[in-house]
Amino acid sequence: AQSLSNMANHVVDLDQENVGSLKQQIAKLFEESLRLTVPEELAVEPSIAPCQNPKFGDYQCNNAMGLWSKVKGKGTQFRGPQPIGQAIMKNLPSSEIIDSCSIAGPGFVNVVLSQQWIAKSIQRMLVNGIEIWAPKLPIKRAVVDFSSPNIAKEMHVGHLRSTIIGDTLARMLEYSNVNVLRRNHVGDWGTQFGMLIEYLFEMFPNGEVNDQAIGDLEAFYKASKQRFDSDPAFKERAQKAVVSLQGGEERYRTAWKQICEISRRGYNRVYERLGVELEEKGESFYNPYIPGALELLSKQGLIEESEGARVIFIEGKNIPLIVVKRDGGYNYASTDLAALWYRLNEEKVEWIIYVTDVGQREHFEMFFTAAKRAGWLPAEDNKYPKASHVGFGLVLGEDGKRFRTRSTETVKLVDLLDEAKSRCKTALIQRGKGEEWTDEELDRTAEAVGYGAVKYADLKNNRTTNYTFNFDQMLNDKGNTAVYLLYAHARICSIIRKSGKDIEELKKVEKLVLAHPDERVLGFHLLQFAETVEEACTNLLPNVLCEYLYNLSEDFTRFYTNCQVVGSAEETSRLLLCEATAVVMRKCFHLLGITPVYKI
Ligand code: ARG
Repeated sequence: AQSLSNMANHVVDLDQENVGSLKQQIAKLFEESLRLTVPEELAVEPSIAPCQNPKFGDYQCNNAMGLWSKVKGKGTQFRGPQPIGQAIMKNLPSSEIIDSCSIAGPGFVNVVLSQQWIAKSIQRMLVNGIEIWAPKLPIKRAVVDFSSPNIAKEMHVGHLRSTIIGDTLARMLEYSNVNVLRRNHVGDWGTQFGMLIEYLFEMFPNGEVNDQAIGDLEAFYKASKQRFDSDPAFKERAQKAVVSLQGGEERYRTAWKQICEISRRGYNRVYERLGVELEEKGESFYNPYIPGALELLSKQGLIEESEGARVIFIEGKNIPLIVVKRDGGYNYASTDLAALWYRLNEEKVEWIIYVTDVGQREHFEMFFTAAKRAGWLPAEDNKYPKASHVGFGLVLGEDGKRFRTRSTETVKLVDLLDEAKSRCKTALIQRGKGEEWTDEELDRTAEAVGYGAVKYADLKNNRTTNYTFNFDQMLNDKGNTAVYLLYAHARICSIIRKSGKDIEELKKVEKLVLAHPDERVLGFHLLQFAETVEEACTNLLPNVLCEYLYNLSEDFTRFYTNCQVVGSAEETSRLLLCEATAVVMRKCFHLLGITPVYKI
């Protein structure tokens, strides 16, 4: 390994606060080195990755191989990838971040971070708050389009997935200082309203709608559907009602609003319990923008006539994207095109993220392609403005089939939350908390743990795969579950409490030192928080953050097993490390939409 003194003696100035993630900081140093090593016409971005094997170092720069393949046989001064690696290493500016460097294999430059610097960075975070670790993203404003249930139909587990995945993505972007428009694109428009309105008129001829009577909108929907299917006269009235509604007739608009309002109240109860904020801009909101948006596409020659409908043909797809139906009505796709136009031009967002089940992939692919051809979005996927579909898999029951209750109805969301909570409460009482805590405390903790468990069980999986819903598994206090993690956090808090030390005071006056190898591993892991969030939100993969959180708690356990905290000579420093771990864990919980608990 080469020590600091052998390295080039120019210094790159990294400003002290919010300098981006650790990886970005390392990249910045290598950027400088590559600028000095590589002729201008071959300029490359530094390629930095954590070392596979910690024996070699913490991070590694992998550019030498690629550069060699470019200069090879072109009269270069270099004799192979190794010497290029050597040069990159030699030109690395000295900085307090790096302790030593070495070359491995075909020119990999390994760097070992300075222990003092890691400790100092953690201490700086403790004093200034974890906001200084917020990742830096290249955008200012984004839409996350999530949850988006359909009026008069019950929210089911699929909408639960969309709600919790979307909320997490929004939280991560918000933490990264992106202004996020949280959009609930509810299905509040369409031909089904004709049937619902007509049925409403039948049930309440004098117009006085009674909430209670149609409180169960799903049943209301079914009853009206049955009328629709069995009575031709009703069907005809329902079809006319659609026209009257779309024509803006007062009586129909009022009925439509009443139905939407009842649905909305139901949704809001769920959002409140989940701690999710959303702003509703449903399909109907974009209605007035559809003709204009289609006009633009038409002018560019994208829209063609096909079998009486107006469509956009997409290369490589057998079926075109229908934007005006044969009866002249608009549909899901025309609404989405108008919404996209609105978001790009009126709301001026740079990234639009849609969270739905993978079954809708085709729909999104098709209208994204149309938007690219129209020049609304750049053709390249790595440029902004950008539209991304975040697809997720099914929730399965124990039988491996789509998750349903015994009655074969789709599972109702609220029932799941109720059950998670009550199971947690029972478990707490079994642990003897019934005597120790007030009923309010029991409820609050049971809710935090129960809802947290449901969310975490969903988020920890790669979202594209199906997962099996299993209460016993998700509520287990061992293994990779929210219960285990929340308890781990509570235990750290109790270590600090029981030490009797004022941690706020310690932060400022005591020094954090990472002498023991397990302290160092934990400290390094804490510093990787920012790049983890960055990766999770740029790749739209919340499971990356879950994995980080779980590994962090394992690193903590190892540290706590091998390093005595209270009563040791290193007590104050180790308490600071405990506190830093708790702070980062709490931020992870927050980003995952989970409420932390402090005692258990
Ligand atoms: N309402 C739709 C559904 O339940 C989801 C809407 C997603 N957002 C969108 N802009 N298409 O399947």
